[in-house]
Amino acid sequence: MPSETHDTADIALHDKLRRDPHRPVYHFVPQSNWMNDPNGLIQWNGVYHMFYQYNPHGAFHGTIHWGHATSRDLVHWEHQPVALAPTPGGPDADGCWSGCAVDDNGTPTLIYTGVHGKAQRPCLATSTDDLLTWQKYAGNPIIAAPPDPAMTDFRDHWVWREDGMWHMIIGSSINGVGTVLLYRSHNLRVWECLGPLHTATAEQEPLYTGQIWECPQLLFFDQQAALVISVWDRHRLLYTAAMVGTYQNHRFTPESIERLDYGDKHFYAPQTLIEPGGRKLMWGWIQEGRPEQAQRDAGWSGVMSLPRVVSMHPDGVLSLTPAPELQALRQSRTHLDNIDLARGSMHSLEVHGDALEIIVEAELEATATFGLVVRRSPGGEEQTVIGYDAAAKRLFLDRHQASCDDDTALDVQGGELVLHVGEPLRLHVFLDRSVIEVFANERACLTSRVYPTRADSNGLALVAEGGAARVTTMDVWWMAAIA
Ligand code: FRU
Repeated sequence: MPSETHDTADIALHDKLRRDPHRPVYHFVPQSNWMNDPNGLIQWNGVYHMFYQYNPHGAFHGTIHWGHATSRDLVHWEHQPVALAPTPGGPDADGCWSGCAVDDNGTPTLIYTGVHGKAQRPCLATSTDDLLTWQKYAGNPIIAAPPDPAMTDFRDHWVWREDGMWHMIIGSSINGVGTVLLYRSHNLRVWECLGPLHTATAEQEPLYTGQIWECPQLLFFDQQAALVISVWDRHRLLYTAAMVGTYQNHRFTPESIERLDYGDKHFYAPQTLIEPGGRKLMWGWIQEGRPEQAQRDAGWSGVMSLPRVVSMHPDGVLSLTPAPELQALRQSRTHLDNIDLARGSMHSLEVHGDALEIIVEAELEATATFGLVVRRSPGGEEQTVIGYDAAAKRLFLDRHQASCDDDTALDVQGGELVLHVGEPLRLHVFLDRSVIEVFANERACLTSRVYPTRADSNGLALVAEGGAARVTTMDVWWMAAIA
């Protein structure tokens, strides 16, 4: 009987996923198949709602729906039925791409990108049953075409209230460079184009900003605004950046641009949830670092990052820190202090694991490179180094030896982290099987993926090279699984 065959296949897949050593245990993942961007993040009657780009037909990008999950504590998530599916013949026939959720005077409302052939246009849907099922607006698409027919990329919506009106930004591209378009509306259904909010300029050149800006977000802080973009370049997702500057007269003027995460494509298309009290929580899509075929074979692809609190330092630097709610996952703890590492030494730790939270504070000589080694096999055949090079003032993650599987990403990721005089290095690491999220000194993040092949690649060690280092304090927690 077909249904039995289907059930048997489902059971076999779920069993395989349960035993998959790369599948995280305390990060949110769909039950199976493909996931990319977080969408429609909103808190409604005390419940957090997370939607996400989802393909119910396999672990590859295609037939994009909106998956849905809910949480009361930001840590445990309950899977909900698919929220949006493409409508044959409709403006979203080829996919329901990224967008956001707003509270339209008591009516939960989604604005998402309907894809039909080459056309990408905003569509709207509302719910009357606590965000579970959605009715698409009969007048979709709500904007018939981009302002310039040459703009074939016209997607990803972020909407906010300003001066008694709705404002929306859309990611796009003008003459081969990234741009963000601004619109406004009285009713979310009829929109007036106010032109580009901001377009890539030569001043941003030190940080290459690609050809299309995806998933833009404008976030407001006390004095300044931040324009968050995901940078796309010729079919490659590059990284996420934030410009900090001023928003005035419908234009954004950047004063600085920074990487939001040094993990390149592994923290992409983030979206922020703004709580009623004003706290900003950001999630990003942690994509895979292994070939497409390996993802299809695994039956799942894509992980949601942990929630990050977004704030702005007085010097205009954006800071992402792990939400304190994550402490609920901490199980037993190992505490260590005052470990002296001579130049060129390695210190193996007694504690092992592949689902850990680790906080290390270290003092480094000016010439030292300090490393926290994770997922290390006893002989060091496999290991990943999360490190800091004091001379180069660089945070890095070295995955040259992360896996004996040469098809997985084996490189060094990193970026600048300048420590103040006398400031110790502080690494806050979340290791969850193939997922690593690093938060350094409350101002630099690095997200990565590693796929060790050996069951015994779960050791921890500390290393110092080029100079001495001293770990003043270190805590390691075993983390609880969320499902
Ligand atoms: C970013 C993105 C968005 C698009 C969605 C499609 O990862 O390419 O621009 O709406 O994914 O799934």
